[in-house]
Amino acid sequence: MATPAVEVRELVKDFVDGAGQVVRAVDDVSLSIREGEFFALLGPSGCGKTTTLRVVAGFEDPTSGSVLLRGRPVLGVPAFHRPVNTVFQDYALFPHMTVLQNVMFGLRMAKVSAAEARRRSLEALAMVHLPDAGERRPGQLSGGQKQRVALARALVNRPAVLLLDEPLGALDLKLRKAMQYELKQLQQQVGITFVYVTHDQEEALTMADRIAVMSAGKALQVGTPDAVYERPSSRFVADFIGETNFLEGTLEARYGERGVVRLAGGATVAAALRDPAAAVGHAVAVALRPEKVTLAARDASASSLPRSDDATTELPGVVADVHYIGTDTRYRVRAAGVEFVVRVQNRQTGFDAMLPRGTEVVASWRSDHASVLA
Ligand SMILES: Nc1ncnc2c1ncn2[C@@H]1O[C@H](COP(=O)(O)OP(=O)(O)OP(=O)(O)O)[C@@H](O)[C@H]1O
Ligand SMILES: [Mg+2]
Repeated sequence: MATPAVEVRELVKDFVDGAGQVVRAVDDVSLSIREGEFFALLGPSGCGKTTTLRVVAGFEDPTSGSVLLRGRPVLGVPAFHRPVNTVFQDYALFPHMTVLQNVMFGLRMAKVSAAEARRRSLEALAMVHLPDAGERRPGQLSGGQKQRVALARALVNRPAVLLLDEPLGALDLKLRKAMQYELKQLQQQVGITFVYVTHDQEEALTMADRIAVMSAGKALQVGTPDAVYERPSSRFVADFIGETNFLEGTLEARYGERGVVRLAGGATVAAALRDPAAAVGHAVAVALRPEKVTLAARDASASSLPRSDDATTELPGVVADVHYIGTDTRYRVRAAGVEFVVRVQNRQTGFDAMLPRGTEVVASWRSDHASVLA
């Protein structure tokens, strides 16, 4: 296997807060980030994303654990000697220098000749679509333009790894979307490993090759966007990424990769066992995405008994509520003593195709589209 660009092994970082209490900001995190990968650290405020990044950058020393860059342990190597650069949310540009001087700064510090530094800096500015801004000062630029300058400055000395801490956080939504696309293009073009911190799940899903979902200092799950979305291994991940129904029940039995869950109303359903913490006899939830469920009106002759096997789950129920939202219709369905949301795409014309409130329905889904979580 190729040497990872970044390896974090059993990283722990404690801080002592103002009251003298120890705060464990990073709690036994291990990550292996591949060369050229766009890797996102995703999680809510305070979960330890920035701290993890700062330890990799060399701005903080770990309490324990290690960091390797291209296979080389970097404990004790100062930040400016590591083959990484960091882009911060607030740009951190030098206000008294021109844009070009800002971009050239690192190269000049590294004793690259003025002519060479200038050439490479202009090239970097062209790469971030700011070829003519070199003589301006940061104060004369918009937020998006400042972030481009910060990017150019970070890329100009060709680091092995670029660390980005919520780089688009200060931008409005529209610009943010445009910059997401641009940044992804740029990353593919330069082929540099990106470690990208965000608390925005949509941003992580659209940009990253792989995501580490963090909570309370721990990396709960690491995987591709579709893996963390489709196959969450904990309730936190299922809840944090996208919309999920949690059908509460008790785990009755496990068969290989399947669990059988007794729901509140007594019916049992089969679902994929994805959470190692789910134990037989204990409370669990069946996590089910609203768009995975198909609804059909149930006629009088149809069975009113639930059915769930390895392939399919079918629950008879009733439409408790309907909301037309243009692209989709959102149903609230009551079945087997639980309630859940179903999202149906409006491929047929709006209201005609809708199942009105009170309709007796069968809700069905592929059993392995649902996950048993502790
Ligand atoms: N220098 C410090 N001293 C004390 N506690 C700190 C320090 N830096 C961070 N922490 C604490 O460590 C935890 C993780 O902080 P961190 O900044 O890594 O979170 P984050 O995931 O980046 O959050 P956000 O999304 O808000 O930026 C928090 O509880 C924070 O208060
Ligand atoms: Mg942060």
